[in-house]
Amino acid sequence: MKRRLLVTGGAGFIGSNFIRYIQSNEPETTIVNLDLLTYAGSLENLKGLPLPGNHHFVKGDICDQSLVESLIRDHRIDTIINFAAESHVDRSLEGPSAFIQTNIVGTFSLLEVARKVWLQEGHLNEKSVRFHHISTDEVYGTLKPEEPAFEEATPYAPNSPYAASKASSDHLVRSYAHSFGLPVTISNCSNNYGPYQFPEKLIPLMILNAITGKPLPIYGDGMQIRDWLYVEDHCEAIWAIIQEGKIGESYNIGGGNQPPNIEIVKTICGILDEKEGFSEFAPHDQLIKYVKDRPGHDRRYDMNFEKINDDLGWQPKHNLKEGLRDTVEWYLENIDWLNAIITEKDYQNWMQINYDQRGKK
Ligand code: NAD
Ligand code: TYD
Repeated sequence: MKRRLLVTGGAGFIGSNFIRYIQSNEPETTIVNLDLLTYAGSLENLKGLPLPGNHHFVKGDICDQSLVESLIRDHRIDTIINFAAESHVDRSLEGPSAFIQTNIVGTFSLLEVARKVWLQEGHLNEKSVRFHHISTDEVYGTLKPEEPAFEEATPYAPNSPYAASKASSDHLVRSYAHSFGLPVTISNCSNNYGPYQFPEKLIPLMILNAITGKPLPIYGDGMQIRDWLYVEDHCEAIWAIIQEGKIGESYNIGGGNQPPNIEIVKTICGILDEKEGFSEFAPHDQLIKYVKDRPGHDRRYDMNFEKINDDLGWQPKHNLKEGLRDTVEWYLENIDWLNAIITEKDYQNWMQINYDQRGKK
């Protein structure tokens, strides 16, 4: 089936990688990309797409129900994939309201429009349409060292406003399936890394700061644990769920890599020492600086992804060492992309706010 996709948030990190993945692997798919181009979204992320003619970019808000309705009708959309979100935990601690608006109200708006249009067209309870919602492992809360990895049945216990807003949206999606027969699937994924990630998240921020000789801020003791997944593996998992996933189900997606943060940062420094040994900032680990911890910082995440492995045969293809090397190389080769972001006023303001919060231990 040649799907006609509405991808929301497709100018962000994972959304733009997903569009590239689909164009490379499913060339006959039509993609409408609805993105508000907030600080995190950029048309730079969509330059050089394999099939620009099959990609229609629309600047707009997922909360705008009349716009979404006309897109679904005009483009005969059969699959909605909701990436659009405010996605950074630190920003949700500084100002949660945008998270409530986009992540909760925005998801609700998309659900409402999908229900209305697909109900009128007689598609509810059918396999021919799909609403796929992208979520996170952070909805499950934090793990103690001895606790087993999160499973799909693990109760939700979100700790940050970001995680709580994603948990809320997941519940809304589930309720639209249960109450109205909207054919939904949800995926909860661990921390992604790879090309086009905005340099406020751990890995791209450390690469950027290391190559420009700025401090590498480690929150708290640096022994917090995340599960890391290369973004292309995530895209492959999402597509597998859309094609073969069971309607109404959630799927955990993970990378099976859980080094503590400090180890990730030291690995990045080591890769840069090899590649940029001539740099005045080498050895790069001299830039590491322990700073005040993030309030309410989740200690450990770990994902059990047996369900998607057993049911859909998916597993991650990239190991962390190679993935990190590829990522560092991508950023070194795309300095212009980085420069375009870091010269934006919003980026500089945010870095200052974050530094003021955590700069001094
Ligand atoms: P991102 O911040 O890089 O991109 C988000 C995109 O959404 C941006 O292009 C932004 O302009 C757009 N957007 C924001 N508000 C919008 C609105 N109201 N209407 C339309 N577009 C809007 O985020 P990302 O890292 O690519 O994350 C994508 C999705 O994946 C999010 O739902 C996030 O919660 C989820 N997720 C991310 C990770 C991760 O490690 N990055 C892990 C698991 C799940
Ligand atoms: P982040 O990339 O913000 O993702 P998330 O909070 O969604 O997991 O952070 C990943 C981990 O790295 C998290 O434990 C916080 C930590 N961290 C730092 O130690 N220093 C930093 O400058 C950043 C951005 C994150």
